[in-house]
Amino acid sequence: MTTENLKTKIEEYFSAGASVVGNREAMAAFEELREALEAGAVRSAEPDAASATGWRVNAWVKQGILLGFRLGHLEAWGGNDGGLSFVDKHTFPARTFTADEGIRIVAGGSSVRRGAYLAKGVICVPPMYVNVGAYVDEGTLVDSHALVGSCAQIGKRVHLSAAAQVGGVLEPVNASPVILEDDALVGGNCGVYEGTIVRRRAVLAAGTILTRGTPVYDVVNGTVLRAEGEMPLIIPEGAVVVPGSRAVNKGKAAEWGVSVYTPVIVKYRDEKTELSAALEDILR
Ligand SMILES: CC(C)(COP(=O)(O)OP(=O)(O)OC[C@H]1O[C@@H](n2cnc3c(N)ncnc32)[C@H](O)[C@@H]1OP(=O)(O)O)[C@@H](O)C(=O)NCCC(=O)NCCS
Repeated sequence: MTTENLKTKIEEYFSAGASVVGNREAMAAFEELREALEAGAVRSAEPDAASATGWRVNAWVKQGILLGFRLGHLEAWGGNDGGLSFVDKHTFPARTFTADEGIRIVAGGSSVRRGAYLAKGVICVPPMYVNVGAYVDEGTLVDSHALVGSCAQIGKRVHLSAAAQVGGVLEPVNASPVILEDDALVGGNCGVYEGTIVRRRAVLAAGTILTRGTPVYDVVNGTVLRAEGEMPLIIPEGAVVVPGSRAVNKGKAAEWGVSVYTPVIVKYRDEKTELSAALEDILR
């Protein structure tokens, strides 16, 4: 089926609500979408120069993923030989891989859910998790305790350091997922949530947290970056963001000396940053 036909079918079955349960054609359409997601042929969001953020959200893909949850029944697996057992919707078991696919999944405590795309050359270090609808492009490293949330779009050669959390955005279906563009470096313990876009080559120092409600102080350009209306928080290309703090002057805050966490753009990527970022390339 062409992508356009698949889109029409998915939209139709999604809007049918609960009556779709048990419909074999709906299941076939969902399975076709899941295959297309895993092949990277269809994405929940994709680059689109004509859009204000540079990315277009494919709401129908998210509807298709939600359709998969609706069509799925609970199924148990594993648990043989005293191992841990699992129960989930049968439509989203863990993916299986072959050596030909060229993706390294180091043994131990990791899972990649069906409906997620991993490109050749991706390295997954346990324990880590990639959720449905996520798209992880070539050469990206997903380090221990990192989470790639549902529908998150991760570019090429992105470094997701240990315990980096990339939030999932499945609903509302037209909401933009978190997007990390090519060559972004996300330090250990970072959190990127609520549709934030991190442009190419940006660097988030360890411990940086970004959400829709977090203003980012760009001390290089003298601007404060915020999410506004339809626009998510956008970290500019090559920005180096570190966790900082700022004084609060409202209410009792000044008297009490209260300050709050704020991310700060201290510089734009330079040779020193390249050096700091290159350290772990030997892993590949
Ligand atoms: C951001 C990072 C890459 C450093 O980049 P860099 O370009 O070499 O940065 P610099 O050392 O030139 O620092 C620029 C400024 O930011 C400050 N800064 C750098 N890293 C910082 C951090 N993590 N927190 C707060 N401030 C930081 C520096 O003090 C400096 O400010 P100053 O000029 O006032 O002293 C590095 O700090 C980092 O966080 N790396 C990721 C580490 C990590 O998580 N590894 C993965 C383990 S799995």
